[in-house]
Amino acid sequence: MKLLHKKNEVRQKVLEWRRKDQRVALVPTMGALHDGHLSLVNQAKQHADHVVVSIFVNPTQFGPGEDFEQYPRSLGSDVEMCRQEMVSLVFAPDYSEMYGTDEQARHPYLSFRITKMTDHLCGPFRPGHFEGVLQVVNKLFNIVQPDVAVFGQKDIQQWYLIRQLAVEQDHPVEILMGPTRREPDGLARSSRNVYLSGHERKVAPMLFQTLQRVRTGLEKNGKLEAVPVDETIISQEVKRLRENGFNVEYFSVVSTPDLQPADAIEHGQTYIIAAAARLGKTRLIDNLLLSHKDFLNHDA
Ligand code: PAJ
Repeated sequence: MKLLHKKNEVRQKVLEWRRKDQRVALVPTMGALHDGHLSLVNQAKQHADHVVVSIFVNPTQFGPGEDFEQYPRSLGSDVEMCRQEMVSLVFAPDYSEMYGTDEQARHPYLSFRITKMTDHLCGPFRPGHFEGVLQVVNKLFNIVQPDVAVFGQKDIQQWYLIRQLAVEQDHPVEILMGPTRREPDGLARSSRNVYLSGHERKVAPMLFQTLQRVRTGLEKNGKLEAVPVDETIISQEVKRLRENGFNVEYFSVVSTPDLQPADAIEHGQTYIIAAAARLGKTRLIDNLLLSHKDFLNHDA
């Protein structure tokens, strides 16, 4: 496995593979790797001859007052995990390799303007976040030029935005979704879970349990039929979360791929039930997909 820090070295390596007609998959991360990241690597392996993992804590997607400085960093053990997973290349650029100067990173002459898809869910709570994500993922797509890229369902708004990025910017890359990996008690794995105190860690799985209950409520005995989204039930669930110490930012049902609030579930469409809440200083997000397939079979 290669550990490279320079864009040009990555380009060269990828070119060597391409000359041999080998397929390349990219799994972008910010490091502090866990089982969720590794599941994406494994999915990527099934679609390509080589998996590239990028590790870069991207400053432009953190707002003022967010946890950029505290974000866990563990390059040594991350690289070791990648080696064990038979990753071909880890790309770990430093700040200036990615952006040049701070000025260029924060105020690029050209930047993405996102409409509609960030009006709901995390968008309003993290101004500028998704613009920063698209800025860095667009660069990674240009540097690596992967055939496929895998992103997690855990960050579902990010997933839909990146797929839109690929379409609108003509990146010839297939965007795959990896299912959310969870702790045994249901809490979605996240690099940020290390911030949780003992007590917070105990109550944290309530977020997932609440999403599941709301999904069950929308299913009408597992039958796929048009049902209205009952806001009263959602408010009751949010109240319960608040009583248990969750500072709920949103708890919403949205349609895909436009990510707009849905007031009814309709046959043949895919919806997302998504929530974000702070427990102490930790921001948790989670979501469930509600689609024809999920209606009929959703053990996960
Ligand atoms: P990061 O939070 O490190 O996540 C990297 C990838 O892992 C994302 O696609 C995310 O959705 C996925 N992931 C995180 N937790 C997961 C879990 N429990 N199960 C499955 N997949 C999970 O997301 C980012 O980094 C950044 O925004 C990035 C795309 C790298 C751009 O900087």
